[in-house]
Amino acid sequence: TDLPTRADKFSFGLWTVGWRAVDPFGEATRPGLDPVETVHRLGELGAYGVTFHDDDLIPFGSDDTERDRQISRFKQALQDTGLVVPMATTNLFTHPVFRDGGLTSNDRAVRRYALRKVMRNMDLAAELGAQTYVLWGGREGSETDAAKDVAAALDRYREGIDTLAQYSIDQGYGLRLALEPKPNEPRGDIFLPTIGHALGFISTLQHHEIVGLNPEVGHEQMAGLNFVHGIGQALWQGKLFHIDLNGQKGPRYDQDLIFGHGDLLSAFFLVDLLETGGYEGPRHFDYKPLRTEDSEGVWASAAANMRSYLLLRERAKAFRADPEVQEALAASRVPELSVSTLSPGETWQELRADRSAYEDFDPDKAAERGYGFVQLSQLALEHALGAR
Ligand code: GCO
Ligand code: MN
Ligand code: MN
Ligand code: MN
Repeated sequence: TDLPTRADKFSFGLWTVGWRAVDPFGEATRPGLDPVETVHRLGELGAYGVTFHDDDLIPFGSDDTERDRQISRFKQALQDTGLVVPMATTNLFTHPVFRDGGLTSNDRAVRRYALRKVMRNMDLAAELGAQTYVLWGGREGSETDAAKDVAAALDRYREGIDTLAQYSIDQGYGLRLALEPKPNEPRGDIFLPTIGHALGFISTLQHHEIVGLNPEVGHEQMAGLNFVHGIGQALWQGKLFHIDLNGQKGPRYDQDLIFGHGDLLSAFFLVDLLETGGYEGPRHFDYKPLRTEDSEGVWASAAANMRSYLLLRERAKAFRADPEVQEALAASRVPELSVSTLSPGETWQELRADRSAYEDFDPDKAAERGYGFVQLSQLALEHALGAR
Protein backbone atom coordinates (compact mmCIF):
# COMPACT_ATOMS: atom_id res chain seq x y z
CA THR A 1 0.00 0.00 0.00
CA ASP A 2 1.17 3.50 -0.86
CA LEU A 3 2.10 6.04 1.79
CA PRO A 4 -0.33 8.93 2.23
CA THR A 5 0.26 11.90 -0.06
CA ARG A 6 -1.23 15.39 -0.19
CA ALA A 7 -3.37 14.27 -3.13
CA ASP A 8 -5.24 11.89 -0.80
CA LYS A 9 -6.61 14.95 1.06
CA PHE A 10 -6.27 13.62 4.59
CA SER A 11 -6.94 16.14 7.34
CA PHE A 12 -7.06 16.08 11.14
CA GLY A 13 -8.50 18.31 13.85
CA LEU A 14 -6.06 19.87 16.31
CA TRP A 15 -8.34 18.47 19.04
CA THR A 16 -7.88 14.86 17.86
CA VAL A 17 -4.16 14.18 18.27
CA GLY A 18 -4.16 16.97 20.87
CA TRP A 19 -6.70 15.22 23.11
CA ARG A 20 -5.16 14.89 26.56
CA ALA A 21 -7.43 11.93 27.32
CA VAL A 22 -9.45 13.44 30.14
CA ASP A 23 -12.58 11.31 30.50
CA PRO A 24 -15.46 11.49 33.00
CA PHE A 25 -13.59 9.08 35.31
CA GLY A 26 -9.96 10.03 34.95
CA GLU A 27 -7.56 12.87 34.50
CA ALA A 28 -5.28 13.51 31.53
CA THR A 29 -2.77 10.79 30.62
CA ARG A 30 -0.81 12.93 28.17
CA PRO A 31 0.56 16.47 27.97
CA GLY A 32 -1.07 18.92 25.56
CA LEU A 33 0.33 19.48 22.07
CA ASP A 34 1.53 22.72 20.59
CA PRO A 35 -0.50 23.37 17.39
CA VAL A 36 2.73 24.27 15.60
CA GLU A 37 4.23 20.86 16.42
CA THR A 38 0.99 19.19 15.34
CA VAL A 39 1.10 20.89 11.95
CA HIS A 40 4.68 19.72 11.39
CA ARG A 41 4.03 16.15 12.54
CA LEU A 42 0.88 15.83 10.43
CA GLY A 43 2.74 17.16 7.41
CA GLU A 44 5.52 14.60 7.89
CA LEU A 45 2.93 11.81 8.07
CA GLY A 46 1.42 12.86 4.73
CA ALA A 47 -1.69 14.79 5.74
CA TYR A 48 -2.67 17.77 3.59
CA GLY A 49 -4.85 19.68 6.03
CA VAL A 50 -5.47 20.67 9.61
CA THR A 51 -8.70 21.90 11.19
CA PHE A 52 -9.47 23.54 14.53
CA HIS A 53 -11.99 24.96 16.96
CA ASP A 54 -11.25 28.59 17.85
CA ASP A 55 -10.25 27.52 21.38
CA ASP A 56 -7.88 24.77 20.15
CA LEU A 57 -5.70 27.42 18.58
CA ILE A 58 -6.34 30.41 20.83
CA PRO A 59 -7.03 29.37 24.43
CA PHE A 60 -10.38 30.72 25.67
CA GLY A 61 -9.92 34.10 27.31
CA SER A 62 -6.63 35.01 25.57
CA ASP A 63 -6.13 38.76 25.08
CA ASP A 64 -5.64 40.24 21.62
CA THR A 65 -1.85 40.21 21.80
CA GLU A 66 -1.79 36.52 22.69
CA ARG A 67 -4.41 35.81 20.03
CA ASP A 68 -2.35 37.50 17.32
CA ARG A 69 0.78 35.70 18.48
CA GLN A 70 -0.88 32.27 18.27
CA ILE A 71 -2.36 33.02 14.86
CA SER A 72 0.91 34.18 13.38
CA ARG A 73 2.83 31.16 14.73
CA PHE A 74 0.18 28.90 13.23
CA LYS A 75 0.29 30.69 9.86
CA GLN A 76 4.06 30.34 9.82
CA ALA A 77 3.74 26.58 10.44
CA LEU A 78 1.26 26.32 7.57
CA GLN A 79 3.63 28.19 5.33
CA ASP A 80 6.61 26.05 6.36
CA THR A 81 4.79 22.77 5.76
CA GLY A 82 2.38 23.62 2.95
CA LEU A 83 -0.55 22.32 4.99
CA VAL A 84 -3.94 23.94 4.35
CA VAL A 85 -6.96 24.68 6.55
CA PRO A 86 -9.95 23.31 4.63
CA MET A 87 -12.36 23.64 7.58
CA ALA A 88 -12.73 25.37 10.92
CA THR A 89 -15.34 25.26 13.69
CA THR A 90 -16.34 26.83 17.02
CA ASN A 91 -16.19 25.50 20.53
CA LEU A 92 -19.70 26.12 21.88
CA PHE A 93 -19.51 23.38 24.46
CA THR A 94 -16.57 23.56 26.90
CA HIS A 95 -17.10 26.79 28.83
CA PRO A 96 -19.85 26.55 31.48
CA VAL A 97 -21.64 29.49 29.83
CA PHE A 98 -22.74 26.93 27.20
CA ARG A 99 -24.15 24.48 29.73
CA ASP A 100 -27.58 24.86 28.10
CA GLY A 101 -26.23 25.23 24.57
CA GLY A 102 -25.10 28.06 22.32
CA LEU A 103 -27.53 28.82 19.50
CA THR A 104 -30.48 27.26 21.37
CA SER A 105 -29.74 28.19 24.99
CA ASN A 106 -32.83 29.36 26.84
CA ASP A 107 -30.74 32.41 27.79
CA ARG A 108 -30.95 34.95 24.95
CA ALA A 109 -27.71 36.69 25.97
CA VAL A 110 -25.85 33.39 25.65
CA ARG A 111 -27.31 32.91 22.15
CA ARG A 112 -26.08 36.37 21.11
CA TYR A 113 -22.66 35.66 22.60
CA ALA A 114 -22.51 32.30 20.79
CA LEU A 115 -23.28 33.92 17.43
CA ARG A 116 -20.53 36.48 17.98
CA LYS A 117 -18.07 33.73 18.94
CA VAL A 118 -18.85 31.85 15.71
CA MET A 119 -18.62 35.01 13.57
CA ARG A 120 -15.24 35.87 15.06
CA ASN A 121 -13.81 32.49 14.13
CA MET A 122 -15.45 32.58 10.68
CA ASP A 123 -13.33 35.71 10.09
CA LEU A 124 -10.21 33.68 10.88
CA ALA A 125 -11.40 30.65 8.89
CA ALA A 126 -11.88 32.82 5.81
CA GLU A 127 -8.52 34.51 6.34
CA LEU A 128 -6.86 31.08 6.41
CA GLY A 129 -8.61 30.04 3.20
CA ALA A 130 -11.12 27.53 4.61
CA GLN A 131 -14.07 26.49 2.41
CA THR A 132 -16.20 24.82 5.05
CA TYR A 133 -17.39 25.94 8.47
CA VAL A 134 -18.63 23.11 10.70
CA LEU A 135 -21.32 23.51 13.33
CA TRP A 136 -21.56 20.65 15.79
CA GLY A 137 -24.27 21.45 18.32
CA GLY A 138 -23.14 19.09 21.08
CA ARG A 139 -24.76 21.18 23.82
CA GLU A 140 -27.89 22.03 21.82
CA GLY A 141 -30.45 19.79 23.49
CA SER A 142 -31.70 18.76 26.90
CA GLU A 143 -31.82 16.09 29.57
CA THR A 144 -35.48 16.62 30.38
CA ASP A 145 -38.32 17.38 27.99
CA ALA A 146 -39.62 19.92 30.52
CA ALA A 147 -36.61 22.12 29.77
CA LYS A 148 -37.23 22.86 26.09
CA ASP A 149 -39.92 24.06 23.78
CA VAL A 150 -38.67 22.09 20.77
CA ALA A 151 -40.39 24.30 18.19
CA ALA A 152 -38.90 27.41 19.80
CA ALA A 153 -35.47 25.75 19.94
CA LEU A 154 -35.66 24.91 16.23
CA ASP A 155 -36.79 28.47 15.48
CA ARG A 156 -33.71 29.76 17.29
CA TYR A 157 -31.48 27.16 15.61
CA ARG A 158 -32.78 28.25 12.22
CA GLU A 159 -32.39 31.92 13.10
CA GLY A 160 -28.79 31.26 14.14
CA ILE A 161 -27.83 29.31 11.03
CA ASP A 162 -29.62 31.80 8.74
CA THR A 163 -27.72 34.66 10.39
CA LEU A 164 -24.36 32.91 10.00
CA ALA A 165 -25.05 32.01 6.37
CA GLN A 166 -25.99 35.63 5.71
CA TYR A 167 -22.75 36.69 7.40
CA SER A 168 -20.66 34.45 5.13
CA ILE A 169 -22.44 35.79 2.05
CA ASP A 170 -22.28 39.50 3.01
CA GLN A 171 -18.62 39.27 4.00
CA GLY A 172 -17.80 37.48 0.75
CA TYR A 173 -16.22 34.61 2.66
CA GLY A 174 -17.57 31.86 0.43
CA LEU A 175 -17.75 29.58 3.46
CA ARG A 176 -20.33 26.81 3.25
CA LEU A 177 -21.80 25.71 6.58
CA ALA A 178 -21.80 22.02 7.49
CA LEU A 179 -24.04 20.82 10.33
CA GLU A 180 -22.81 17.78 12.24
CA PRO A 181 -25.54 15.53 13.63
CA LYS A 182 -25.13 13.52 16.83
CA PRO A 183 -27.86 11.78 18.84
CA ASN A 184 -26.55 12.40 22.38
CA GLU A 185 -23.42 13.20 24.40
CA PRO A 186 -22.71 15.56 25.97
CA ARG A 187 -26.44 16.44 26.15
CA GLY A 188 -28.86 13.66 27.05
CA ASP A 189 -30.61 14.30 23.73
CA ILE A 190 -29.20 16.57 21.05
CA PHE A 191 -31.28 18.51 18.48
CA LEU A 192 -30.72 17.42 14.85
CA PRO A 193 -29.70 13.94 16.06
CA THR A 194 -29.21 12.25 12.68
CA ILE A 195 -28.39 12.97 9.03
CA GLY A 196 -32.09 12.70 8.25
CA HIS A 197 -33.18 15.21 10.89
CA ALA A 198 -30.50 17.65 9.74
CA LEU A 199 -31.49 17.32 6.06
CA GLY A 200 -35.11 18.04 6.96
CA PHE A 201 -34.05 21.11 8.96
CA ILE A 202 -31.79 22.43 6.19
CA SER A 203 -34.68 22.44 3.71
CA THR A 204 -36.38 25.11 5.88
CA LEU A 205 -33.42 27.51 5.82
CA GLN A 206 -33.28 30.80 3.97
CA HIS A 207 -29.84 30.02 2.47
CA HIS A 208 -30.28 26.26 2.28
CA GLU A 209 -27.99 26.09 -0.77
CA ILE A 210 -24.89 26.92 1.27
CA VAL A 211 -25.80 24.70 4.23
CA GLY A 212 -24.99 20.99 4.17
CA LEU A 213 -23.63 18.25 6.39
CA ASN A 214 -20.52 17.03 8.17
CA PRO A 215 -21.65 13.52 9.16
CA GLU A 216 -19.51 11.45 11.53
CA VAL A 217 -19.27 7.65 11.24
CA GLY A 218 -19.69 6.99 14.96
CA HIS A 219 -22.57 9.38 15.47
CA GLU A 220 -24.97 7.61 13.11
CA GLN A 221 -23.83 4.25 14.47
CA MET A 222 -24.55 5.45 18.03
CA ALA A 223 -28.13 5.79 16.79
CA GLY A 224 -28.06 2.29 15.31
CA LEU A 225 -28.17 3.65 11.76
CA ASN A 226 -26.40 2.59 8.57
CA PHE A 227 -23.73 5.23 7.91
CA VAL A 228 -23.21 4.18 4.28
CA HIS A 229 -26.91 4.71 3.57
CA GLY A 230 -26.79 8.07 5.36
CA ILE A 231 -23.83 9.19 3.26
CA GLY A 232 -25.54 7.82 0.16
CA GLN A 233 -28.53 10.07 0.81
CA ALA A 234 -26.40 13.09 1.73
CA LEU A 235 -24.53 12.71 -1.59
CA TRP A 236 -27.78 12.20 -3.47
CA GLN A 237 -29.07 15.48 -2.06
CA GLY A 238 -25.81 17.31 -2.82
CA LYS A 239 -25.26 17.88 0.90
CA LEU A 240 -22.06 16.02 1.71
CA PHE A 241 -19.93 19.12 2.34
CA HIS A 242 -17.42 17.43 4.67
CA ILE A 243 -17.03 14.17 6.59
CA ASP A 244 -15.71 13.01 9.99
CA LEU A 245 -14.15 9.55 9.67
CA ASN A 246 -13.65 7.39 12.74
CA GLY A 247 -14.75 4.09 14.30
CA GLN A 248 -17.51 3.06 16.71
CA LYS A 249 -18.72 -0.24 18.13
CA GLY A 250 -22.47 0.04 17.96
CA PRO A 251 -24.88 2.06 20.09
CA ARG A 252 -22.97 3.21 23.17
CA TYR A 253 -20.97 6.29 24.21
CA ASP A 254 -19.10 8.17 21.47
CA GLN A 255 -15.88 6.21 21.04
CA ASP A 256 -14.13 8.20 18.30
CA LEU A 257 -11.97 5.16 17.48
CA ILE A 258 -9.44 5.05 14.65
CA PHE A 259 -11.07 4.72 11.24
CA GLY A 260 -11.63 1.03 10.48
CA HIS A 261 -11.34 0.01 14.13
CA GLY A 262 -15.12 -0.18 14.50
CA ASP A 263 -17.41 -1.74 11.90
CA LEU A 264 -14.81 -2.76 9.31
CA LEU A 265 -17.18 -3.92 6.56
CA SER A 266 -19.14 -0.69 6.83
CA ALA A 267 -15.83 1.21 6.53
CA PHE A 268 -15.02 -0.81 3.40
CA PHE A 269 -18.32 0.10 1.74
CA LEU A 270 -17.99 3.71 2.92
CA VAL A 271 -14.59 4.12 1.23
CA ASP A 272 -16.00 2.44 -1.88
CA LEU A 273 -18.82 5.01 -1.90
CA LEU A 274 -16.62 8.03 -1.21
CA GLU A 275 -14.22 7.02 -3.98
CA THR A 276 -16.90 6.36 -6.58
CA GLY A 277 -19.82 8.56 -5.50
CA GLY A 278 -18.48 11.99 -6.42
CA TYR A 279 -17.20 13.20 -3.03
CA GLU A 280 -14.17 15.39 -3.57
CA GLY A 281 -13.75 16.99 -0.15
CA PRO A 282 -11.24 16.27 2.59
CA ARG A 283 -11.00 12.83 4.19
CA HIS A 284 -11.11 14.29 7.69
CA PHE A 285 -10.39 12.19 10.77
CA ASP A 286 -12.23 13.09 13.95
CA TYR A 287 -11.01 10.46 16.36
CA LYS A 288 -9.38 10.20 19.76
CA PRO A 289 -6.07 8.39 20.27
CA LEU A 290 -6.77 5.74 22.92
CA ARG A 291 -6.33 7.00 26.48
CA THR A 292 -3.85 4.16 27.08
CA GLU A 293 -1.33 5.56 24.59
CA ASP A 294 1.65 7.83 25.17
CA SER A 295 2.78 10.60 22.82
CA GLU A 296 4.43 8.18 20.44
CA GLY A 297 1.18 6.21 20.30
CA VAL A 298 -0.64 9.38 19.32
CA TRP A 299 1.35 9.74 16.09
CA ALA A 300 1.07 6.00 15.42
CA SER A 301 -2.72 6.40 15.69
CA ALA A 302 -2.75 9.33 13.28
CA ALA A 303 -0.81 7.27 10.74
CA ALA A 304 -3.14 4.31 11.36
CA ASN A 305 -6.22 6.31 10.28
CA MET A 306 -4.68 7.14 6.93
CA ARG A 307 -3.32 3.65 6.40
CA SER A 308 -6.73 2.13 7.15
CA TYR A 309 -8.29 4.41 4.55
CA LEU A 310 -5.67 3.62 1.90
CA LEU A 311 -5.89 -0.13 2.51
CA LEU A 312 -9.66 -0.03 2.23
CA ARG A 313 -9.41 2.08 -0.92
CA GLU A 314 -7.12 -0.50 -2.47
CA ARG A 315 -9.45 -3.34 -1.43
CA ALA A 316 -12.54 -1.50 -2.70
CA LYS A 317 -10.88 -0.94 -6.08
CA ALA A 318 -9.98 -4.61 -6.32
CA PHE A 319 -13.58 -5.50 -5.52
CA ARG A 320 -14.92 -3.28 -8.31
CA ALA A 321 -12.33 -4.54 -10.82
CA ASP A 322 -12.93 -8.27 -10.21
CA PRO A 323 -14.81 -9.84 -13.17
CA GLU A 324 -16.45 -12.31 -10.77
CA VAL A 325 -17.84 -9.40 -8.80
CA GLN A 326 -19.16 -7.79 -11.96
CA GLU A 327 -20.86 -11.05 -12.87
CA ALA A 328 -22.32 -11.35 -9.40
CA LEU A 329 -23.57 -7.76 -9.52
CA ALA A 330 -25.32 -8.49 -12.80
CA ALA A 331 -26.76 -11.74 -11.44
CA SER A 332 -28.09 -9.77 -8.48
CA ARG A 333 -29.58 -7.23 -10.89
CA VAL A 334 -27.83 -4.36 -9.15
CA PRO A 335 -27.40 -2.38 -12.42
CA GLU A 336 -31.11 -2.83 -13.16
CA LEU A 337 -31.97 -0.54 -10.24
CA SER A 338 -30.55 2.31 -12.32
CA VAL A 339 -33.11 1.73 -15.06
CA SER A 340 -36.11 4.00 -14.53
CA THR A 341 -39.34 2.28 -13.55
CA LEU A 342 -41.39 4.04 -16.20
CA SER A 343 -40.16 4.01 -19.81
CA PRO A 344 -38.91 7.35 -21.19
CA GLY A 345 -41.94 9.61 -21.57
CA GLU A 346 -44.32 6.98 -20.25
CA THR A 347 -47.29 8.34 -18.28
CA TRP A 348 -49.31 6.72 -15.52
CA GLN A 349 -52.13 6.29 -18.08
CA GLU A 350 -49.84 4.18 -20.25
CA LEU A 351 -48.64 2.21 -17.25
CA ARG A 352 -52.25 1.55 -16.30
CA ALA A 353 -52.96 0.35 -19.84
CA ASP A 354 -49.90 -1.94 -19.89
CA ARG A 355 -51.32 -5.42 -19.30
CA SER A 356 -47.82 -6.94 -19.04
CA ALA A 357 -47.24 -4.86 -15.91
CA TYR A 358 -50.19 -6.27 -14.03
CA GLU A 359 -52.87 -8.42 -15.63
CA ASP A 360 -50.36 -10.70 -17.40
CA PHE A 361 -47.64 -10.37 -14.77
CA ASP A 362 -47.19 -13.52 -12.70
CA PRO A 363 -46.08 -12.50 -9.18
CA ASP A 364 -45.64 -16.13 -8.10
CA LYS A 365 -43.28 -16.76 -10.99
CA ALA A 366 -41.37 -13.53 -10.36
CA ALA A 367 -41.08 -14.44 -6.68
CA GLU A 368 -39.28 -17.70 -7.48
CA ARG A 369 -35.91 -16.24 -8.28
CA GLY A 370 -33.50 -15.24 -5.50
CA TYR A 371 -31.25 -12.22 -5.69
CA GLY A 372 -27.86 -13.79 -4.91
CA PHE A 373 -26.89 -11.15 -2.38
CA VAL A 374 -25.12 -13.69 -0.16
CA GLN A 375 -22.65 -14.43 -2.94
CA LEU A 376 -22.10 -10.72 -3.49
CA SER A 377 -21.66 -10.04 0.20
CA GLN A 378 -19.15 -12.86 0.55
CA LEU A 379 -17.15 -11.57 -2.41
CA ALA A 380 -17.00 -8.17 -0.71
CA LEU A 381 -15.85 -9.73 2.55
CA GLU A 382 -13.16 -11.73 0.77
CA HIS A 383 -11.88 -8.64 -1.00
CA ALA A 384 -11.96 -6.69 2.26
CA LEU A 385 -9.87 -9.41 3.91
CA GLY A 386 -7.40 -9.49 1.02
CA ALA A 387 -8.33 -13.10 0.23
CA ARG A 388 -8.89 -12.37 -3.47
C1 GCO B 1 -17.83 14.52 18.64
C2 GCO B 1 -17.85 15.59 17.60
C3 GCO B 1 -16.92 16.69 17.73
C4 GCO B 1 -17.06 17.67 16.58
C5 GCO B 1 -16.10 18.75 16.69
C6 GCO B 1 -16.24 19.73 15.56
O1 GCO B 1 -17.05 13.57 18.52
O2 GCO B 1 -18.65 14.60 19.50
O3 GCO B 1 -17.46 14.94 16.44
O4 GCO B 1 -15.63 16.19 17.74
O5 GCO B 1 -16.83 17.07 15.35
O6 GCO B 1 -16.30 19.37 17.91
O7 GCO B 1 -17.14 20.69 15.91
MN1 MN C 1 -17.64 11.59 17.81
MN1 MN D 1 -17.00 15.09 14.61
MN1 MN E 1 -15.00 14.08 17.98
